[in-house]
Amino acid sequence: MARVYNFSAGPSMLPEEVLKTAAEQMLDYEGSGQSVMEMSHRSKVYDKIIKDAENDLRKLMEIPDNYKVLFLQGGASSQFAMIPLNLMTKNGKADYVITGQWSKKAFSEAKKYGEPNKVASSEDKIFNYIPKLDKSMFDKDADYVHITYNNTIYGTVYHEIPDVDAPIVTDMSSCILSEPVDVSKFGMIYAGAQKNVGPAGVTIVIIREDLIGKAMDITPTMFDYQIHADNESLYNTPPCYGIYVCGLVFKYLLKNGGLKAMKEINEKKAKILYDFLDSSEMFRGTVVKEDRSLMNVPFVTDDEELNAKFIKEATEAGFVNLKGHRSVGGMRASIYNAMPVEGVEALVEFMKKFESENK
Ligand SMILES: Cc1ncc(COP(=O)(O)O)c(C=O)c1O
Repeated sequence: MARVYNFSAGPSMLPEEVLKTAAEQMLDYEGSGQSVMEMSHRSKVYDKIIKDAENDLRKLMEIPDNYKVLFLQGGASSQFAMIPLNLMTKNGKADYVITGQWSKKAFSEAKKYGEPNKVASSEDKIFNYIPKLDKSMFDKDADYVHITYNNTIYGTVYHEIPDVDAPIVTDMSSCILSEPVDVSKFGMIYAGAQKNVGPAGVTIVIIREDLIGKAMDITPTMFDYQIHADNESLYNTPPCYGIYVCGLVFKYLLKNGGLKAMKEINEKKAKILYDFLDSSEMFRGTVVKEDRSLMNVPFVTDDEELNAKFIKEATEAGFVNLKGHRSVGGMRASIYNAMPVEGVEALVEFMKKFESENK
């Protein structure tokens, strides 16, 4: 059966090689006589799988030793509560930059536990840019600053890490592993795995050790970073199989040049698509040029009917999940690590053909 080019925002494509390895190991993982799905999370075999996954992620992202790596559940959305419960505990305040639905949700959740402050927002232009930030805009008493690094729905990304004194907590759900990042510039990085890492069900948290252990008394046990850090992500049953597949992806990335190589390929793919959008008379990108994401590329024609026709014909031609998020409409191509260059080239060829046929 032919595989399609899947432009879904998440869950999304995984490297074919990883899927094949998982398939080969499905019934008998490395002579254990069991599938990883059937294994005790307390077994020696599984312990190696989770430890390897952590070590490989540390290598890939060059994570400093004073950061803990946690594999949790509950999605990035649970982090919206875990972050204030654990970190908004000194002055009870935090600064939030609002760049889309996900930062809005993070902000709303934080309101339940203290006084988050909205520093800036790009909602005035349907989040098609990243607000310009200056140190003077931030509260000196903020326990942390929260930013959504890559905005999956709107297709914007920070090209500069804000210059602030408080620890920066960032949602990298849709850009983690797409390019190298200096982890030491952040207090905490978190991401749902289902976009650029692995299957849904795993949430990655990379957190500086000194930020752990200060949770509010009301914090549910399962929401306390300290509990998960002390137990090396094995306090309870972790998402075992998901972590194993993430581990296969980490090995695949290390084998293929790491995050520097990913960045080069991702820049190449994004350029192919943005160059076409900038030259097309029918299609246009919706984001200001300087804030364009490498991962999520929203675009439109000026005609709703034409958008619908495009999505329908693209789907029939094997380019699937190009419909924009329900809150913005139009189209969006998510081109994460696992989307090959040929997939983007083929999409652009299809768009050119569609444009010439529908002038
Ligand atoms: C940037 C960002 N943050 C958070 C989320 C929510 O993630 P989850 O579904 O893992 O809770 C998403 C999901 O699409 C996202 O793109």
